[in-house]
Amino acid sequence: MSPSVVCVASWNVDLVARIAQPLQRGQTCMATHFDRLPGGKGSNAAIAAARQGVQVGLIARIGDDDMGQMGLDLWSREGIDSQFVVRSAGESNGTAVILVYEDGDNSIAVYPGAGAGLSAAHVQAATARLKQSQVVMASCEVPLSATQAAFEIARTHQVTTLLNPAPAMPLPDALWPLIDVLTPNEGELQRLAEEGNIDRAAERLLQLGVGAIVVTLGDQGCALYRPSVAPLRVAGHAVRVVDTIGAGDTFTGALAAALARRTPWHEALNEANAAAALSTQAPGAVTAMPTRSQMLDFLAAGTRTG
Ligand code: RIB
Repeated sequence: MSPSVVCVASWNVDLVARIAQPLQRGQTCMATHFDRLPGGKGSNAAIAAARQGVQVGLIARIGDDDMGQMGLDLWSREGIDSQFVVRSAGESNGTAVILVYEDGDNSIAVYPGAGAGLSAAHVQAATARLKQSQVVMASCEVPLSATQAAFEIARTHQVTTLLNPAPAMPLPDALWPLIDVLTPNEGELQRLAEEGNIDRAAERLLQLGVGAIVVTLGDQGCALYRPSVAPLRVAGHAVRVVDTIGAGDTFTGALAAALARRTPWHEALNEANAAAALSTQAPGAVTAMPTRSQMLDFLAAGTRTG
């Protein structure tokens, strides 16, 4: 059976406006572009993993309007199993309002809509699917009780758990030791650990029971921290960025796919760095997410920063 990943997922429709630079409080400006695009950290990571050629299943709760159908159609096109996606009558879908600036960076406000109702019971209904997978991943856009339930099932059945702690928020004490791999960016790591120094912040979270921390560092790549092992830095890629929406999700999804294949750490992080770099080459979260062969060709071309 081919490697398989389950994502406890958020689904959002992204309303993306392109403007020159961040707004001041109370300021209005004219946007130069506007798009309505698929998003949600969970759905994005699931698509990134599916494009890396592993089987992907979603556990999610979505609304029953046209935006919910947009998600179902997208997942079907990507070959993602949506058997455990629940449609809730009369509820709106998750929506993200996103401002993208000239340099490709962004600000995002997420309203979770029907996703806020994803519960431990929804996750437990998918226990058989979770048991068959190699990796279970989630982000902090879904209720933490749903993630906790999924990671408890995963731990019982030796399935690797991966959490993208975005948006960063305080996590329950009981969740930390259930996390095999955590993928924060620098700011998220600092907020979670309440510590500005990256090495010390990672050490603090490892002491809470996290198995491994992969800090994403933009075009500088990433750094892997594990208990009692020297940190491993893996170089990133210098690319001309169009927008960075979903780059962290692409990293998480590609890493999940590599770990599901039992790829050694260094190679897995190289692949995730390359997939994330390529994802910044077109507008929106999923447009430029690479297939496995695109990612391998890019790695072979050698654009690394270190
Ligand atoms: O990480 C990018 C994603 O964050 C966007 O797609 C948006 O939906 C928010 O979830």
